[in-house]
Parts: sequence; C-alpha cells; structure tokens
Amino acid sequence: MVIDTDDSSINGLIFKELIKRGYSLDGDRKIWNIADSKLWYLTSEQAQAYLDLENSKKYGDSMINVEIDFLKKVMPEISDEVLEGDEITLIDIGCGDGKKAVVPINYIKQKAKITYCPIDISSYMVEKAIKNISELKVNKVVNFKWNISDFENMENVTSLLRADGKKLFLLFLGGTIGNFEVHDALYSLRQSMEDGESLLLGVPINNTSEDEDPSKNYNSKSVDFFLGHVLKGIGFKKDEIKFGTRFKNFRVECFYTIQKKKIIHFNDKEIVFNVGDELIVAVSYKYSISDYESSMKLYFSESKFFLNDEKSWALILCKK
Ligand SMILES: C[S@@+](CC[C@H](N)C(=O)[O-])C[C@H]1O[C@@H](n2cnc3c(N)ncnc32)[C@H](O)[C@@H]1O
Repeated sequence: MVIDTDDSSINGLIFKELIKRGYSLDGDRKIWNIADSKLWYLTSEQAQAYLDLENSKKYGDSMINVEIDFLKKVMPEISDEVLEGDEITLIDIGCGDGKKAVVPINYIKQKAKITYCPIDISSYMVEKAIKNISELKVNKVVNFKWNISDFENMENVTSLLRADGKKLFLLFLGGTIGNFEVHDALYSLRQSMEDGESLLLGVPINNTSEDEDPSKNYNSKSVDFFLGHVLKGIGFKKDEIKFGTRFKNFRVECFYTIQKKKIIHFNDKEIVFNVGDELIVAVSYKYSISDYESSMKLYFSESKFFLNDEKSWALILCKK
C-alpha cells in the first residue's frame, strides 16, 4: 500500500523526523527511534488524548494522583524554602492543563502574591492552564506569545520574565524530565536560572526489583490511543501496527511493530516499512534516587529531596 503525504501538514514533520534520525538494524529488522515529545502534542486532538490518559486509572494513579497528593503534603516546607518576600513568579514548564500547579498555588497564595506563567509546546495546553489558573484568582497570569515555547528556549523566556528583577520559581512536574536525556534537560534548566533561583522537579522513582517490569503501567489502551496519533499522522491504520512496551536501558520504551508492509511517500522521498520493523515513539527514563542525587550535584549548588512513603515519587527542590 502507498500513502502520499502532503508538505503542508503534520505528517511532513513526522516524515522529516524519520529521515533525520534514520534507523538502526536488529538483524534485518529496522528500528526507527522517533521518541520526541514534540511529536506527541502537535494537534489539539493529541493534547486532549494526553489529558484523557491522565484521567485513566493506571496512568492517572501512577503518574498524576501520586504527585498531586505528595505536593499537598510537602508544599508547606517547600514554600518556606522558596518564599523570600510577599511576591513570587511561578514558571510552570510543560504546564499541561495546569492541574499540578494548582497545589503550590493554592498553598502559596495564602502567603504571597503570585504571578503565574505557563510554558508549553502545545497552545491547547497553554490555553487550558491559563483558564484553570485564572479561576484561582492569582495576582497575574502571564499571557504572551512565549507561553508556547520549546524547553530548549527556556533561557530566553525566563530572561523576559525576570525583567522586574524578581527571582523566579520554576516548576517542572509530572516526570516530564524522564522523556529527555537527564543531563541535557538539567543543563537547559540550569541555564534558564539565575543564582539563588529555585526549581521544583517532580520525578517517578525506579524502585522496582529486577523481576518487576516498570513498563506495565504504560501498556494500556489509553497510552496506545495517545501515542498512536504519531503514526496515524503519517498514514498508518490501526491494523497495520501493534503497540508494545518494554523496560530497557533504564527506560520504558513504547513502540509499534509493523504488521503489514507499507511505503510512505513525501515529496521525492519514500520510506519502506517491512513486517517486523519497529518504531519507538516514546521513552521514559526511570532512574533511582541515587542516580538523581548524583545528577543534581553536577548542576545545582543545593538540592533537597522529598520522597513519598511508597518511595515511588520524588519532589526535588534545587537551588542554583
Ligand atoms: C507529561 S506532561 C506533564 C504535564 C504537567 N506538568 C503535569 O505534571 O501534569 C508534559 C507536558 O510538557 C509539554 N511538552 C512536551 N515536550 C515539550 C517541549 N519540548 N517543550 C515544551 N513543552 C513540552 C507537553 O505538551 C505536556 O503538556
């Protein structure tokens, strides 16, 4: 079967990513790795599929509710550490619909005036966060064109928000850091901060024993539905691909295996997918607490770890 893609649409973007990254070989099977979170939120349908995933039982309990409950518990101590005066500027990086930021905001607003700035690659998410946080009646919600930014551009965005000389408090919650190489992400975050500023990172902790499989929380219809949009974007149909997950090299990999040969065209190029070829569309690194401890030492002058009772989630308060 031959699919023709068209330059102006998102399938062009995904096709270009495939060409740019290429594939590796496992025997004669091609393994394409296009695990970049930028491709997961290209349309409002994809962004909403993520928000629906957050509401699913398995993913919601292990990735969302666990962090919300823990934030409620530790916010009193965290706010004592970060509040210097009676005003604070909160930058919510990868804000999603803002539901996580609600917890620190509800706590801090009893003590200080809050300026809230959501940052996300998805305009759909930014709109949701702006709406949800505006309802909390914070002092100010920053609404400007840089709300829709890539993490890679954080350094430029934070410099605009610091214009009045006030220190920033950055939130990077939801285990989003796990979708990146940890050192790349920590380096960018650090570059976007000034001395004395704080960052609160929320990360799942890998405390599973060797015979447990942390990928099982990702093997669900809702994750398949969310990530399946990426391949739908280049013309794959449901019965042509099969969803799978595995834990390998400290990370959960979510991938699709090709069930039917398919050729995809874009401009003058084509890609042939054979039965058994694989496309990795998402990775989520699962580090142990000691891995995070050693990484933090490299980038921050201080870091304080808060670990929940189940030892499954850490909130790490870092100061530059
Ligand atoms: C795992 S969700 C976390 C959402 C929210 N912080 C939470 O904890 O529920 C990741 C968020 O980061 C955004 N995102 C993903 N890649 C991004 C990138 N490269 N730059 C900016 N935002 C990105 C997504 O649109 C999504 O809203």
